[in-house]
Parts: sequence; C-alpha cells; structure tokens
Amino acid sequence: MSKNIMVAIDGYSSCGKSTLAKALAKELHFIYVDSGAMYRAVALYFLRNNIDLKDEHQIKEALNNVHLNFHSRDYQTHITLNDEEVSEEIRLMPVSDMVSAVAALHDVRVEMVRQQQRMGKSKNVVMDGRDIGTVVFPDAQVKFFMTADPKIRAERRYKELLPKNPEISLEDVFENLAHRDYQDTTRAESPLTRADDAIILDNTDLTPEEQLAFAISKVKPFLDNLSSR
Ligand code: CDP
Ligand code: CDP
Repeated sequence: MSKNIMVAIDGYSSCGKSTLAKALAKELHFIYVDSGAMYRAVALYFLRNNIDLKDEHQIKEALNNVHLNFHSRDYQTHITLNDEEVSEEIRLMPVSDMVSAVAALHDVRVEMVRQQQRMGKSKNVVMDGRDIGTVVFPDAQVKFFMTADPKIRAERRYKELLPKNPEISLEDVFENLAHRDYQDTTRAESPLTRADDAIILDNTDLTPEEQLAFAISKVKPFLDNLSSR
C-alpha cells in the first residue's frame, strides 16, 4: 500500500521556510503549498472590507465570501482571491501588519486548516506555515522547524522588499517580524510551536543550497522506502 508523503515546514517569520519548501518541492516533484499566503489573502479581504475582528457574525460572513485558489507556475505561488491575482499585494506592509491578528481568529483557522488538509489528501506535498507539523499534518513523515537570527531574518526580508518598496526601512521590517512572531507564538489557538518530532533547522549561516541539501537528506529515506514497496 502506498501512502503519500507530507513534509511540514514551520518556523518564525522570514526564516527561509518558503525558499526551502519551494526548492524541495521542485527537486522532489511534490506539490508546494504556501499556507501563509492563504492567511495573507484572507487578511487582505478583511482589510479591504473593513471587517471588525471582534464581530463573529461579520467574520463568518466574510469567510463565506472568500474564495482562494492556487496556481503554481514553476513553483512560484500565485494566489487568487475571488479570481483576482493578489500574489504581490499580500506581501505588502498593510497586510503584514494585520495578518497575525486575522490568523489568530478561530473561524479563520478552522476554514484554512480544512482547505489545507484537503490539498494534502492524496498527493505528495510540502507545506510551510506555523502549525503544519502540529495541527494540519500531525502525521507528516518529515517535519522541520526553522529558525534564524532575527537580525539576519530582517535583513533578508528588507532586501527582498526594498526594490518595490523604496520607502521601507529595516527597522519597520524588524519590528513587523518581531511583532508577528510574538503574536504567532502566544495566540490561544494553534500557536507556533515546534512539534516534538520536528527537526530543528537553524539557517543563520546556511545558504539556500545548503539548507536544501540538509532537508533532502532527511526526506530521502522516506522516498527510498516508498519506491521499494
Ligand atoms: O513569509 P512570512 O514568514 O512573512 O509569513 P507567512 O508564512 O506569509 O505567514 C503570514 C502570517 O500568517 C504569519 O505571521 C501567521 O500569523 C499566519 N500563519 C499562520 O497563522 N499559520 C500558518 N500555517 C501560516 C501562516
Ligand atoms: O518563508 P519565510 O518567510 O520563512 O522566508 P523566505 O521568504 O523563504 O526567506 C526570506 C528571505 O531570506 C528570502 O529573500 C530568501 O531568499 C532569504 N534566504 C536566505 O538568504 N538564506 C537562506 N538560507 C534562506 C532564505
């Protein structure tokens, strides 16, 4: 009997999760799902429609009106919100500033987790986020918990955002990452935490190629096992 392989990648903000997840999925021909993009797209909808995060009725109604779709082109995440391509807009500061508050809401989490579990049902998948190894796929064969020095993480994200956002400052980015990490690790529902069986990957001093080689070495035994059945 063959069972699909799930690789769960969790960790702090901007510590290389999606870089690793994309590269791993490409190398292994797995599906890649960026769960953070889903929370960001929901946050964008809430922002545009001025949804009151304390009003359960408004939240439920808003969620009924949010339809997300992933289109993967060369392992780059393209996400649509009600058929509108929002892949770039969800990365901007207004969304980054409110996404963790939206992601802390019970109804939002229930709906996102339901959709994520459906995506990983019958295919080999690499999914990155905050609760993938603990809540979405607690039975994932391989789990990574990623971390890196907060200053390095802020510098990396700053470098990434600067070309399209010349007004942004390194301090703003550092603050945003710190604030989200605080909110994500202290929230009541599905806080970011390392699953007991997750492999810690600190990439402060690793290149993307080095972290990929490390991850492949951990996933490989499960692939060999699968092909020998
Ligand atoms: O890429 P970055 O580290 O900036 O964040 P992201 O993965 O795009 O996730 C944005 C936010 O969504 C996080 O700060 C969390 O608040 C939330 N999130 C979550 O709660 N659970 C997930 N599985 C993924 C993201
Ligand atoms: O998904 P997450 O928010 O955890 O991080 P990311 O978007 O994959 O990575 C944030 C930035 O760090 C990107 O610009 C990556 O190219 C960079 N990065 C790096 O410089 N070295 C690594 N070992 C991993 C990521």
